[in-house]
Amino acid sequence: MIDHAPGTPVLEMRGIRKVFPGVVALDGVDFDLRAGEVHVLLGENGAGKSTLMKILSGAYTKDAGDVFIDGAPVSIGSPRDAQSLGIATIYQELSLVPQLTVAENILLGHEPSRAGVIDRAAMRDAARRSLAEVGLDLDPDRRLDRLGIAEQQMVEVAKALFRRARVLVMDEPTSALTAREIDRLFDVIRRVTAAGVAVVYISHRMRELAEIGTRVTVLRDGRAVGTFPLPETSFDALIRLMANREVRDHFPRRRCKAGDELLRLEHVSGPSGAPRVDDVSLTVCRGEIVGLAGLLGAGRTELARLVFGADRPSSGRVVVSGRDVTPKTPRQAIAAGIGFLPEDRKRHGLVLMRSVGENIGLPSLARWSRAGVVSGRTEHETAERWVTELRIKTPTVAERVVRLSGGTQQKVVLARWLAADASLLVMDEPTRGVDVGAKVEIYELMNRLTDAGAGILMISSELPEVLGMSDRIYVMRHGRIQAELDAASASEERVLQAALGLAS
Ligand SMILES: Nc1ncnc2c1ncn2[C@@H]1O[C@H](COP(=O)(O)OP(=O)(O)OP(=O)(O)O)[C@@H](O)[C@H]1O
Ligand SMILES: [Mg+2]
Repeated sequence: MIDHAPGTPVLEMRGIRKVFPGVVALDGVDFDLRAGEVHVLLGENGAGKSTLMKILSGAYTKDAGDVFIDGAPVSIGSPRDAQSLGIATIYQELSLVPQLTVAENILLGHEPSRAGVIDRAAMRDAARRSLAEVGLDLDPDRRLDRLGIAEQQMVEVAKALFRRARVLVMDEPTSALTAREIDRLFDVIRRVTAAGVAVVYISHRMRELAEIGTRVTVLRDGRAVGTFPLPETSFDALIRLMANREVRDHFPRRRCKAGDELLRLEHVSGPSGAPRVDDVSLTVCRGEIVGLAGLLGAGRTELARLVFGADRPSSGRVVVSGRDVTPKTPRQAIAAGIGFLPEDRKRHGLVLMRSVGENIGLPSLARWSRAGVVSGRTEHETAERWVTELRIKTPTVAERVVRLSGGTQQKVVLARWLAADASLLVMDEPTRGVDVGAKVEIYELMNRLTDAGAGILMISSELPEVLGMSDRIYVMRHGRIQAELDAASASEERVLQAALGLAS
């Protein structure tokens, strides 16, 4: 059905250039894609990966360069053009309609009809066939919002296949998936590539490249700096190339000399709703990084929200430095010296339409304002300092956050709490979507913060990160603390067993 032997370029991009005010996002990028391959795009935050793919999907228009499909020049002026050329993108923010059924989503705009009436039976059949192509056994009549993220993503793939996509772009598709869901997604990717579809795969997780990639192209500062076969190429070489410098030790954690107690949760429960936090007691000492492990849905984010006053506990106390501060609002938590890096920074962490400087200054406003007047100069200087220090890739501190790449946004949230001198940081998946180099920088910052006496409660679904960075680890399951482990003697297996409720 696909008339291309693997190895034939289905798609070529030549000399692609894209300029945003103040940034050359892409500076003459060449990229080619063969039928049946998984071509990984690798690069630091802000390197231009998403921009290149948005040009392909018609979301952005290029300033220069050419795109060829099967060797013939094409023009992609809109998402509709891209679709008719067989290019489909699975976005980080899924583009399906939650209120419609699975079948309606897959066939949207292509509904079969008989005598002007939508033929429901034919629709269900077509949907079922597409679902089967990705190996998904789902009821086509299920409402989409009844599915988990992973299943929704696979419905997106099924939808793309229904539209006869030959090129499938996945921009950080695994960022919200569990290990098991990632395995399923990889099965789906293997199926579609076996059928000749070409996949562009963007991820910061190096382990995934080796597992799923055929070739990798490294982007750096808007330029393609090389294309290599996978899995033969070493991670170290790739990381050096993408960062253009040596990136040190992956987990530079110094074991702590835990000081006195900074945070104590006493029998914290609530709020109602699922998953509900149930009678959680834990401590974080000064200078300590405490990992909070568990499966998706174990209640970790819910617990973080209680500590930060985003939700109110129905019982129990939050004690900071011996004082009961049980915050009723984030404002009270901030006043008690608690900072929060939320998991979904786009929804909760950042004011996207405001500038980098304003976002960094947000919680510090009270301190800088005299008689209610904010000193714009202090805000500006502080922001500049942190932008330099954290290597935040932005043209100026006046740039609106919405324009920054995903990982760069995360650094802005971090800068905010550094600027605010928070003594306790609650970090929910602090390095999700962050490139390898920046990851190590964030780890080093965590070390610096704890060296200076701060405490960190870190939620992470990446076991190597939990084990590599934490001094102690709590494992949550069904809203409760299932186990407390000393990181020095913990292993991935022990954490997983506790997360699954298998530990004694
Ligand atoms: N709509 C926009 N307006 C202004 N600048 C933008 C816009 N979109 C992207 N940029 C800039 O273009 C550059 C490349 O961003 P892009 O999102 O492509 O990076 P990325 O490689 O996908 O990074 P990440 O790994 O963090 O997702 C960045 O400097 C970013 O700030
Ligand atoms: Mg991106």
